[in-house]
Amino acid sequence: MIENDLKEALESITSQELNGKNYKRSDFARSILNYPAMMVPAVQEPIIHCLSKHLDEKISLIDPFMGASNTLVTGMKQGCEVFGQDINPLSLLVSQVKTSYYLSTELEEARRVLMSKINSDTSVRIEVDFKNIDKWFKAEVQLELSKLRRGILSEDNLLIRKFFWVALAEVIRLVSNDRTSTFKLHVRTSDDIQNRRLSPIELFTSLVKRSTRDIIEFCRILEEGDHIENGQYKNNVDVVWGNSLGGLNTKKQFNLLVTSPPYGDNQTTVTYGQFSYLPLQWIPMEDIDPNIYIDYLKSTMEIDSNSLGGKMIQNFSEVEEKLFEKSSELKGLFEKFDFEKKKKAKKVLNFFHDMDLSIDNMVTKLKPGAFMVWTIGNRNVNKTEIKNDKILSEILQSKDIELVTDLERDILSKRMPGRNNFSDLMKKEKILIFKNKY
Ligand SMILES: C[S@@+](CC[C@H](N)C(=O)[O-])C[C@H]1O[C@@H](n2cnc3c(N)ncnc32)[C@H](O)[C@@H]1O
Repeated sequence: MIENDLKEALESITSQELNGKNYKRSDFARSILNYPAMMVPAVQEPIIHCLSKHLDEKISLIDPFMGASNTLVTGMKQGCEVFGQDINPLSLLVSQVKTSYYLSTELEEARRVLMSKINSDTSVRIEVDFKNIDKWFKAEVQLELSKLRRGILSEDNLLIRKFFWVALAEVIRLVSNDRTSTFKLHVRTSDDIQNRRLSPIELFTSLVKRSTRDIIEFCRILEEGDHIENGQYKNNVDVVWGNSLGGLNTKKQFNLLVTSPPYGDNQTTVTYGQFSYLPLQWIPMEDIDPNIYIDYLKSTMEIDSNSLGGKMIQNFSEVEEKLFEKSSELKGLFEKFDFEKKKKAKKVLNFFHDMDLSIDNMVTKLKPGAFMVWTIGNRNVNKTEIKNDKILSEILQSKDIELVTDLERDILSKRMPGRNNFSDLMKKEKILIFKNKY
């Protein structure tokens, strides 16, 4: 296939496919944890398929911001080698589960044993303690969550424990006093808290059943595609914790990068860290990855401030100059802001500074001729549109990475923040496809 054919093939992907019309919520075990801003696998499927036909070699796929690993599992369905990294320990946990192979018999037996232990547990000991625990969890909820935690810890098989921890994380999202309407931590009104009658154990029981069904269904799809051998995915799968700004923790090189990056710093866009703070209080770090080295439970802000754009850069004018050389869109945008608004604009610049450095790390992991697929939308800062797609495109092209084509899609099926200055423009997003020249 020559380059023009590829462009044509990509552009002929129907808007129905790109808008995710064909998707079911439970596809690819997507609903085992309602992680924020997840990619819809059905959207990426035709693109990965098209590029893999063009590359005509085994696909090795990397996602440096893997989130809930929907991109990785889409690649697995097509038999790719996959590598994913994320700074959020909860993303790692759910990715470890979704990229593993489980047997329904072992999950069902483990659930039966666990539920019988939990139902006969009479202890009233509360298993975790952290600042403001009583603000976020009612006493009776703490009691049941403690039983669940004790029960899960008594399971010997780490992979099965991880599966249960993900179910517990989803339970915590639903039973804490945090409002589920935003990803930021916002406590419910006291009336609301008083009136809610939720049993974490009952919820856990039904969620574990549903998640078992979803995971097993995905494992069955992998089997049908002949991607399983000796109870394992045939190709390499590696998901790790790490800050993509500092580097990518793999020695391999890849021929396909597919990602949906953050759209700005987490605090002002999607607070992945705040979303994860309460579940992570109940899940022991050793069961996720004992080598995680940020103290992510120190405060509700810790993960977000370690994420892209989370820390203010010092040598501002130097950075400004370098970035403006790469992106005239960013330069023009910055010139438009008056002094008051410049503070906010600085955050935007800060974010692109981190993104720029992360891209440098990614490029070192790409083979010559590798493709990159970036799904990104624009956002609003003080009523000014930040054209993320254009800026990203200019930054990538400044590194000799050429744009093959861009596609557009509606994002009605994506779980995005309900109310903030971010969502106004978030009705469409772009899928930008690039090729690494060297
Ligand atoms: C839009 S989500 C990714 C969604 C994912 N592609 C999917 O399909 O579900 C963006 C992710 O970037 C992660 N992230 C932000 N800054 C990061 C950094 N510096 N290093 C690694 N991951 C980061 C966030 O934790 C979040 O999980």
